[in-house]
Amino acid sequence: MNGTRAFGAQSTGTEVLVGVDLRGKVAVVTGASGGIGEETARALAAAGARVVIAARNRGKAQAAMGRILASNAAALLEFETLELDSLESVRACAQRLLARHPTIHLLINNAGVMASPLARTAEASSRSSRATTWGIFS
Ligand SMILES: NC(=O)c1ccc[n+]([C@@H]2O[C@H](COP(=O)([O-])OP(=O)(O)OC[C@H]3O[C@@H](n4cnc5c(N)ncnc54)[C@H](OP(=O)(O)O)[C@@H]3O)[C@@H](O)[C@H]2O)c1
Repeated sequence: MNGTRAFGAQSTGTEVLVGVDLRGKVAVVTGASGGIGEETARALAAAGARVVIAARNRGKAQAAMGRILASNAAALLEFETLELDSLESVRACAQRLLARHPTIHLLINNAGVMASPLARTAEASSRSSRATTWGIFS
């Protein structure tokens, strides 16, 4: 054995993080108001990271944070508003995040849409390309 572990398509975030200590680390997970993002946030928090739930729907995010806290009362969670359809929102989110956390150790660009009908943001990008590509790198 060389100490590496094999993971596959069936591996969960929790399995991947077994034995990993993320105490003192800051992780940002976009679209963590449900689905894979919520599960990723849960696994990162269980490993000790302070996790920023970056989402556009505060109510959904708070519900997700409640579920994570119900499974791990010690989870360190924060909410941050992020609407990837708007570059203004992305930049404002980045500024607020960096003001609170000069170092972000883990950025999980999970938020996205797929196989959705063509729709445009107010800035005229396609909504799916903005959420999955341009918003992330802005
Ligand atoms: N599940 C799969 O089989 C699969 C396969 C391939 C790729 N993916 C990708 O993996 C990621 C997570 O998938 P999932 O199944 O967990 O999807 P999901 O349940 O639909 O969650 C997507 C998350 O992204 C957020 N989001 C979407 N557009 C956004 C925007 N413009 N600004 C901010 N947040 C936005 C959603 O927020 P709201 O709740 O507010 O809409 C939600 O929190 C997505 O990027 C998806 O495309 C998933």
